[in-house]
Amino acid sequence: MCGIVGYVGLNEAEPILLDGLAKLEYRGYDSAGIAVHSGQKINIVKSKGKLAELQKKLSQNELKGTLGIGHTRWATHGAPSDINSHPHASNNCKIAVVHNGIIENYLSIKEELTESSFTSDTDTEVIAHLINKFYTKATIENLLDAVYAAIDKMRGTYALAIICSDFPDKLIAVKKDNPLVIGVGKNENFIASDITAIINYTRDAYLLDDGEVALIDAKNIKIFDKDKTLVSKKIFKIDWDIESAEKGGYDFFMLKEIFEQPKVINDFLSINLYDENFLHKINLETLENFTRIYIVGCGTAYHASLIGARLLSKLPNIFVSAEMASEFRYNEPLIDEKTLLIVISQSGETADTLAALRMAKEKNARVLSIVNVVGSSIARESDNVIYITAGPEISVASTKAFSLQVMALYVLVCNLYKVCKVISTEKFLQLQNELQRIPSLVTEILDRENEIKIMAEKYLSCKNVFYIGRGLDYFIAREGSLKLKEIAYLYSQAYAAGELKHGPIALIDDSILIVGVITQKNIVEKTLSNLKECKSRHGKIFIVTTENNSDIKNVADDSFIIPQISQIFAPLLANISLQLFAYYIAKGLGYDIDKPRNLAKSVTVE
Ligand code: M6R
Repeated sequence: MCGIVGYVGLNEAEPILLDGLAKLEYRGYDSAGIAVHSGQKINIVKSKGKLAELQKKLSQNELKGTLGIGHTRWATHGAPSDINSHPHASNNCKIAVVHNGIIENYLSIKEELTESSFTSDTDTEVIAHLINKFYTKATIENLLDAVYAAIDKMRGTYALAIICSDFPDKLIAVKKDNPLVIGVGKNENFIASDITAIINYTRDAYLLDDGEVALIDAKNIKIFDKDKTLVSKKIFKIDWDIESAEKGGYDFFMLKEIFEQPKVINDFLSINLYDENFLHKINLETLENFTRIYIVGCGTAYHASLIGARLLSKLPNIFVSAEMASEFRYNEPLIDEKTLLIVISQSGETADTLAALRMAKEKNARVLSIVNVVGSSIARESDNVIYITAGPEISVASTKAFSLQVMALYVLVCNLYKVCKVISTEKFLQLQNELQRIPSLVTEILDRENEIKIMAEKYLSCKNVFYIGRGLDYFIAREGSLKLKEIAYLYSQAYAAGELKHGPIALIDDSILIVGVITQKNIVEKTLSNLKECKSRHGKIFIVTTENNSDIKNVADDSFIIPQISQIFAPLLANISLQLFAYYIAKGLGYDIDKPRNLAKSVTVE
C-alpha cells in the first residue's frame, strides 16, 4: 500500500527521503516520487516502477534542499505511470502533496475547480489544487486555513504530507483513517506512514489521531485538532530495533520471519502464559455480561479468527462466530452491549477491520483487539488490547504474526476455558505446559527445512494446488493455500475435505497437487479417505500430519510428520511446514517473495 515520508531539518532531504521510501518498499508499490524545496521553489521527480527507476532519474537531476516529501504509490485511481505518481502539485507549483487513502468525492471537487488544469487521473491531484484555491495570502496561518478548508470539502480517507513553495522550512501533516506518525529528532523532524521508515533516525514519535493537522519545522511540532485547537500529545517511544527491520543474512524477510518464530513465540509466552492477571488485564475475568462473541479479521488474520472461534465455541451459553471483516460490516450482524468483538490485525490499520471495529463500538459492543503494531489505529480504538509482540513483520506474506495471533488466542481460550469451567485446573496446567513446548517444537520443524525444500522443488511444475483438511485443519489448509497464492502465484484453493465430493473432485487429475492437513485425531481416517479418492484420480498427494503410520505413507507421494502435541495446538505446527513449503515453491519459481505483485502489506483502503 502507498507509503509516505517527509523530512524537515538541517540535512539534505533527498537521501533521507529515499532511505525512508526504501524501508516502505515492503508495503507494495508501483511507482515513487519525491518533492524537495530548493529554498526558492519546489522541485519534483517521480517515476513509474521501483525505487531504482526514481534513483536513476535523480542521478541526472539531484534535488537539493532540506525540506521534502516522498511517496511510494500503489495505484487506485489511474494506472501506474510517471504522471500519476505522487507528489502532485497545483498548477503554479505552490502546493505539493503526497497522499495515502482515497478521496471519494474527487470527481465532484474536480468539476468545481474550473480554473485548474489537471494532468493526472488521480484523486490526489485535486487536493493540491483545492488547497491552492483556498490559499490566498503568503502567511502560515492562511496556509493552515487553506488546508482545513480543503479537508472540510474532502470525503474519504487520507494521510497527507504537504509543502508550500512560500515556506522552505515547513511541513504539514494531516491524518484521517490512514496512519501517520511524526518522528521527533534534534533540529530535524520526520513524518512517515509507518515507523519503519524513520527508526534509523529517531525512537520518539507522535502518533497523529484522526482529524489532526500538524505544522512541523526543524525545531517545533504543533499539532491541532479538527477545530484548529492546539493539542498536547505524549511522545510514543518506539522500541523496535533496527536489526528486526533488516534482512540479517536471509534471502528474504519472509524466511527470516519464519525463522524468528521460536523466539517471538517464546517472548510472547514469557509475558503472558503464566500471568495470573491475563484476563484481568483485558477486563475479561468473566463472560457473564456477554451473549455473543464475533472474531473478525481479513486474510491471514481471518484464518486466525476461524481457529479462535472454533475453540471458543466450546464455551457454554455464548454464541461465537468468526467473520471476514470486509463482509461483517455489510451483513447487519446483531450487535449490542452484550457483544464482545475480538478484532485481529497485524498492522492494526486494515480499513475493513477498522470499520468493523467502529461499527461495533457505535453499537456499544466491547472491543478486544489482538494486534502487532503498537499504537496503531485498531489498538488505540479498542477497549482492550493483546499485543502479539512479533516485532516488525516486513514480508507481505504474514507468517510470524499469524503464529502469534493463534498463540494469543490459545492463551485466551485456555484462560476462558478455565474460568468458564470447561476444563479443570489440572487440565489447564497441562495445556500451559504444552504451550510452553511450542517454541522448541517449531525449532524442530525449522531444523528440517531442507526436507521441505526438497519436497517443494518436486512440485514446481504444478499449476493447480488444492489444500484440504477438516475442522481446525481446514483453517490451516486455507492459510497454507493463501500463502502459496500470494507468493508463488499458483492457482490454489482450500476445501473442507468433505466438500471435495460435492463438486471440486471433478477437477482432479495428474496435474493437480493436493496438500492434506491431518492433525485432528477424530478425522484422520475421513481426510485420508478423501485423499485416497484424489490419488485414485491420479492427483499428487502431499500430507502434513501428526500421524506416522503406513496408511498415510501408502497414500502420500510425500509426507511431513510434525511433532506430537495436544491436538488443539497441532494446527499451528502444521502451518509452519506449510509456510516453508510455499516459500520454497516461490523461491524455486524465482519470484521476489517479499514484494508479491498486486499486494500490499497493509490494506488501508476498502
Ligand atoms: O494487517 P492485517 O493483519 O489486518 O492484514 C490482514 C490481511 O491483509 C493480511 O493478513 C494478508 O492476508 C496477508 N498478506 C497474508 O499473508
